[in-house]
Amino acid sequence: MSDTKVALITGGSSGLGRELVRALSGDGWHVITDARNGDALARETRGLYGVEAITGDVTDADHKEALVAAVRRHGRLDLLVHNASTLGPTPLPALATVTVADLKDVWRTNVGAPLVLTGALLPDLLASDGVLLSISSDAAIEHYEGWGLYGASKAGLDHVTLTYAAENPGLHAYAVDPGDMRTPMHQAAFPGEDISDRPEPASVIPHLRHLWEQRPESGRYRAADLPLPETAGARS
Ligand SMILES: NC(=O)c1ccc[n+]([C@@H]2O[C@H](COP(=O)([O-])OP(=O)(O)OC[C@H]3O[C@@H](n4cnc5c(N)ncnc54)[C@H](OP(=O)(O)O)[C@@H]3O)[C@@H](O)[C@H]2O)c1
Repeated sequence: MSDTKVALITGGSSGLGRELVRALSGDGWHVITDARNGDALARETRGLYGVEAITGDVTDADHKEALVAAVRRHGRLDLLVHNASTLGPTPLPALATVTVADLKDVWRTNVGAPLVLTGALLPDLLASDGVLLSISSDAAIEHYEGWGLYGASKAGLDHVTLTYAAENPGLHAYAVDPGDMRTPMHQAAFPGEDISDRPEPASVIPHLRHLWEQRPESGRYRAADLPLPETAGARS
C-alpha cells in the first residue's frame, strides 16, 4: 500500500467540494474528484498537487465504475466524501407541487448515488481504516417551507451513512451539517438575495478536518461544533 493517503470527494469544482480538494491536495493527499461540467472541473483543479479529476455525474453507473477504478489504481481509500448534491427544482417548491420526476432526480443524486458508491468502496474504506463523510444540512432535521424535498433527501443521506456505521463497526462514518455557506447552491436557494453575509466554504474546512484527523465516534455532527485543531504554539 502506498504511503500517500487517498481521498475521493464528489463535486470538487465549486463551493465546499472545491475547498476540500484544495485542502487535502495541500496536505499532500492524492485526491480523486468529479463534477458534471468538465471545463469547470479542469479549471478549478488545474495545477493542484495530486488531484485526479474525472468528469461525470454521480448518478451514472459507468461514472461510478470509473471512480471505483481510480481508487483501486491507488490501492487505498482513506476518505470518501459525498459532497455533490442537488437542491432539486428552484425556486424551492411547496411539497404539494413536487413531481415524481423531481423526487427521482433529488433522491438519485442525494441518496442513491452515495448509497451505491459507498457500497462499492466499502471494502477499500475498511481495508484502509478510512472515513466516510456525507455532507448533510440543517434541513435534514428542521422543517422549512420549500425545503421539504431536499431536506427529506438529506435525512435519507444521514440515515444511509449512519446505517453503514451500524453495519460496519470498523467504519468511521459521519453525516455533517456544514452550515450556511456562500456558494452557487446557496445563491440558487435564495435567488436575487444578497448572500455576502454567509461564511465562505473555506471556513468550514478546519472543523471538518477534526473528523479524519481525530476520528470521533460515528454520528451526526454540526461542523460548527467540531473543535478546531490546536493552533501552533497554543498553551495546553
Ligand atoms: N451552501 C450551503 O449553504 C449549504 C448548506 C448546507 C449544506 N450544503 C451541502 O454542502 C454540499 C456542497 O454544497 P455547495 O454549496 O458547495 O454546492 P455548489 O457550490 O453548488 O457545488 C456543488 C458541486 O457538486 C457538483 N455536482 C452537483 N451535482 C453533481 C452530480 N450529479 N454529479 C457530480 N457532481 C455534481 C457541482 O459541479 P457540476 O454542477 O458541474 O456537476 C459542484 O462541483 C452539498 O451537499 C450541499 O447540499 C450546502
